[in-house]
Amino acid sequence: VENVGILAMEIYFPSQYVDQVELEKFDEVAAGKYTIGLGQSRMGFCSDREDINSLCLTALHRLIEKNNINLHDIGRLEVGTETIIDKSKSVKTFLMTLFAKEGATDIEGIDTTNACYGGTAALFNAINWVESSSWDGRKAIVVAGDIAVYGKGPARPTGGAGAVAMLIGPDAPLVFDCGVRASYMTHAYDFYKPDLASEFPYVDGKLSIQCYLSALDNCYNLFCQKMRKVDPKFKGLLSLDGMLFHSPYCKLVQKSLARVSFNDFLNATEAEREKQFPGLSQFSTYNRCDTYFDRDVEKAFMTYSNKLFEQKTKPSLHIARNVGNMYTPSLYGGLVSYLVSKSPDQLIGKKFALFSYGSGLASTMYSINICSDMSAGSKLEKLIKSLNENVAMLDSRQSIEPQKFSDIMQVRTENYHTAPYEPSGSIEVLFPGTYYLNKIDDQRRRTYERK
Ligand code: ACO
Repeated sequence: VENVGILAMEIYFPSQYVDQVELEKFDEVAAGKYTIGLGQSRMGFCSDREDINSLCLTALHRLIEKNNINLHDIGRLEVGTETIIDKSKSVKTFLMTLFAKEGATDIEGIDTTNACYGGTAALFNAINWVESSSWDGRKAIVVAGDIAVYGKGPARPTGGAGAVAMLIGPDAPLVFDCGVRASYMTHAYDFYKPDLASEFPYVDGKLSIQCYLSALDNCYNLFCQKMRKVDPKFKGLLSLDGMLFHSPYCKLVQKSLARVSFNDFLNATEAEREKQFPGLSQFSTYNRCDTYFDRDVEKAFMTYSNKLFEQKTKPSLHIARNVGNMYTPSLYGGLVSYLVSKSPDQLIGKKFALFSYGSGLASTMYSINICSDMSAGSKLEKLIKSLNENVAMLDSRQSIEPQKFSDIMQVRTENYHTAPYEPSGSIEVLFPGTYYLNKIDDQRRRTYERK
């Protein structure tokens, strides 16, 4: 099989959002803290009408409908999520309701979890399956979804929610490079969810940023080494048309691109440094690991990389800025945003790197090539057209005032463990085609309807 990758994609985010300017006022923090300091404009959120099963059902059903997928042509269905509402039963089994009613039950795959990384792990499972001896010629679907909510306090404006569904198979317009995936995995208590009675994580904000940036350093340098084995002329960021990141909040992504430039600087020879990084020689003696919160390094390389950021990364942040951290789908929202910012002509033959990070921690940098093959070209056009319809929905959402948002969050918090339970959240507000929670019975069994 050749050119294994993403054939079709569908992204879903909630129909309600809270404006970050209004949230700054409501939270009585300095104006600009969330909008400039974190780089966020709006935050999507769900009422008690939606849970992880409904989010994933919504994205999956739309992918199937829009692409006329024959359910018997799917041999693997993978889910990546960190929104755990059952310690045993997978989200995948709920998604099987769509397949089982058509008699399509010969489908491998279950859920994968490690913070925001689960979607990438699920995607790798699907790609690996298509490239393996177990493959039977059918396609795979990967669904990544999460509801990201934090307790009241500084982390709350970095929430979000959404789901993405991706059709995986050979002869794809978005092709995964082979043999260059670079991972960094280790143990850290930066963000974790040990309290199973609560929807909120424990988070050490500062440590989580340090972990994210050090994982980036490790993945990026290893990725460059592996790329140079395949292509000795590979020059890091300069050889890439785009660089996409998991986005907890957009400012961290801009800092991350600066960090990539700092790595390119440290890896360069003295002669290269003078040519490519004029005026930055005072940083030659700096150590990677001492500089995660070094203001001088940050400022110098933010300035240096500003143009590169505008070209290679900023187009990928549209959904992240307007929905917030969706956790597992975040990076894939970045991919969607990047694709819709360009015309198919501008994308053909381009290569970009993607950095996936999940606290705890698991991280990988990998790369995607946009296939230059003509048959893939028409698939790419169709894909972008469909994603444009998705992204346009950002503008048909309803703005909810912070007090009401806070009340809705309170209802979620208070009822996180209530059974039996009938949700009170509005059905009216949901986009057409959205799945929603109908009720939880006394045996904690959940049932869903579709709007
Ligand atoms: N105007 C402009 N900028 C401002 C203003 C203002 N009025 N006030 C503050 N800021 C800036 C700060 O200078 C700071 O910028 P810096 O990062 O460049 O220093 C930024 O706004 C954030 O303010 P802080 O006071 O540093 O941070 P805070 O205590 O509010 O917490 C944090 C931010 C740690 C990101 C918190 O929201 C959090 O814990 N979020 C969840 C964890 C997270 O997302 N981690 C990222 C990786 S792990 C993951 O994906 C979950």
